[in-house]
Amino acid sequence: MLEPERILRLEEDAVVLLDQRLLPLEEIDVRCRTAGEVADAIKTMVVRGAPAIGVAAAYGIALAAAHGEDLATADHILRASRPTAVNLGWALDEMRDDPSYEHARRIHTDEVERCRRMSAHAADLLVSGTRALTHCNAGGLATGGYGSAVGALLTAWERGLLQHVWVDETRPLLQGARLTAWELEAASIPHAVIVDSAAASLMAAGEVDCVITGADRIAANGDTANKIGTYSLAVLASHHAIPLYVVAPTTTLDLSAQDGATIPIEERDPAEITTRFAARNPAFDVTPAALIAAIVTEHGVHRAPYVQSLAGTVATA
Ligand code: MRU
Repeated sequence: MLEPERILRLEEDAVVLLDQRLLPLEEIDVRCRTAGEVADAIKTMVVRGAPAIGVAAAYGIALAAAHGEDLATADHILRASRPTAVNLGWALDEMRDDPSYEHARRIHTDEVERCRRMSAHAADLLVSGTRALTHCNAGGLATGGYGSAVGALLTAWERGLLQHVWVDETRPLLQGARLTAWELEAASIPHAVIVDSAAASLMAAGEVDCVITGADRIAANGDTANKIGTYSLAVLASHHAIPLYVVAPTTTLDLSAQDGATIPIEERDPAEITTRFAARNPAFDVTPAALIAAIVTEHGVHRAPYVQSLAGTVATA
């Protein structure tokens, strides 16, 4: 498992990010020396995954403050770098009163600590011999250490509950095939990458016991935005009576959003899909709460009705 500071860290003169676009073939750091460079790194997905984006933004503000950048401008460009993950705005709000290096580093360590707690709660939901399916990458790379959905799989593996993981390759940027598979391999967890469209037939064949994913933003009613394709998995899982568990820290909750309809969905460059033809590239979709068996945060397992079970849940260390 990668150490948190290998994934991203704050040095005196730079935010240092492991370039996730190049993994697993190359392990190269990108050094960002201004808040603008951190914002570009978030936009271009050098760093990605909702909690890791938040930590990177906190580091960007701390760097900007130490180097005398205009903080209102720094906040603005970082906030605008990606629209869907609410952790970004949460971390920037947190940094407003205290933009120090220590505070930014505490936000990072707190996120990793939340991951460990939610992973323990989520692993409680799994039974011996579980064959899980996951989408995108909700591992340590996405959270700054340990991971949410992948963290739950790590904990379940340590407890001897996990038999196998199906890893959706996750078109178009292959976060599953490149990043999740790499993390599972490092942990020696049996896994196989599948094309996203293979999930249905594996479920029909009885080879999937649960679907487990992270989230980018969870509305008050439990509607959940996550990587494009999560909604399709939720529909398939419901059809096959397979539970879908969402594992995410309270920093991913947006209780000001009544439901998923108000969650901004990022549209990325069509060139990520093709340059030959016209294309449309929504990066996230919203899974209705009714298709989610449980949402697991560091506080525990939340069940429907989520309006009640999530109410009052706020980020704590
Ligand atoms: O576009 P990405 O790679 O940033 O999307 C990431 C996801 O969809 C993750 O599942 C989500 O951020 C949760 S990370 C713990």
